[in-house]
Amino acid sequence: MLFQARLGPYRQPKGIPVAKAEKTVRDMRSLRGDFPILETQVAGNPLVYLDSAASAQKPETVVTAMTRFIHSDYANVHRGIHALGERATEAYEQARSRVARFLNARSAGEIVFTSGATAAINLVAGSWGEANLKAGDQIILSVLEHHSNIVPWQLLREHRGIEIVVAPVDDEGGFDLAAFAGLLRPRCKLVAVAHISNAIGTVLPVREITRLAHDTGAKVLIDGSQAVAHRPVDVRDLDCDFYVFTGHKLYGPTGIGVLYAKADILAAMPPWQGGGEMIRTVTFARTEFADPPARFEAGTPNIIGAVGLAAAIDYIEGIGWPSIQAHEQALLAHGTAVLSRLNGLRLIGTAREKSGILSFTLEGIHPHDAATLLDRRGIAVRAGHHCAQPAMDRFGVAGTLRASIALYNTIEELDRLAEGVAEVLRQLS
Ligand code: ALA
Repeated sequence: MLFQARLGPYRQPKGIPVAKAEKTVRDMRSLRGDFPILETQVAGNPLVYLDSAASAQKPETVVTAMTRFIHSDYANVHRGIHALGERATEAYEQARSRVARFLNARSAGEIVFTSGATAAINLVAGSWGEANLKAGDQIILSVLEHHSNIVPWQLLREHRGIEIVVAPVDDEGGFDLAAFAGLLRPRCKLVAVAHISNAIGTVLPVREITRLAHDTGAKVLIDGSQAVAHRPVDVRDLDCDFYVFTGHKLYGPTGIGVLYAKADILAAMPPWQGGGEMIRTVTFARTEFADPPARFEAGTPNIIGAVGLAAAIDYIEGIGWPSIQAHEQALLAHGTAVLSRLNGLRLIGTAREKSGILSFTLEGIHPHDAATLLDRRGIAVRAGHHCAQPAMDRFGVAGTLRASIALYNTIEELDRLAEGVAEVLRQLS
């Protein structure tokens, strides 16, 4: 405490100035300067980065917050009775509170830091699932799920004998709410769905899904990995039981993710991984576990990642949701229009409620070949099944090209994408 008084308490660096908030679509361009990597040249062309659904680029404020923390505040957390230990613990716990405010959770105690969304889903399956599900119970997933929201439940199926039921989408990729409602049975104990499909951009009606699931007594897990960077999320309004996301798609660092769970559910969940930090007392005879969230954070956590994640949240909230959403929806509309004009291009996923993802195939052309040619023009897109093979199967394709939009993209970049794709069609078809 003496040393802490001398050093002063940890203060979270501020995000971008509030004056930058509420930008118009046109003003968003000025934010590109916050992302030095966007100046990169690829094969002599200016980079067009359209792969933010895989991982978003990082603004300078995130890098600065992490560097500053390492330079002045870093130590392990919840352990050292020394000034830096105290400051690092404050920084880490402030980051937890920042995430709680971001999601409108009731308290920071409902926020567990994980290494990513995948770890968060595995935590729910391995802890809540193992404790609460038994042979014959059902869980419902949507056909659009990322493998990270399929495979953990299949592993649980091996242990517990649960059944996995798949909720369909229509031919545009829209979630079929009526069909979903028809699948719900009293033995359905969990509905686990993406908020936004990483493969085709569909926004799922998660509030309605949650309401219907709760009416039959099922809990609800929402994978928000593709949502949190593109729209405000209010877990109290959604009333979901679990919400997970990863930091690196939110302009934050890799290796940090979040599990939100309602406090009473978290309190009743057994530990998932054992180790330091998640205990109250240990003897060789028995161990008493800590309360959540510590119970679920065995080992030294990603302290620097948590600081970076808090800075990323400050950054996007400093810009303001109306500006981000207006900008990205304008880009989505423009991208859809310019790509739709190309003969031989099939857009997959044209649901009415859609986020900034353009997934498409080119007649007779392998997505990897097309992506390689686009890369030579400096255009970065993802090609393949996007870790969502059942979604690809639903549309009868092995994979697609996927251009994904972030707040730093521009109309001109989407024009360059369309020109590049037109050239690929000329060369390869
Ligand atoms: N889940 C990430 C993607 O959609 C990696 O590309």
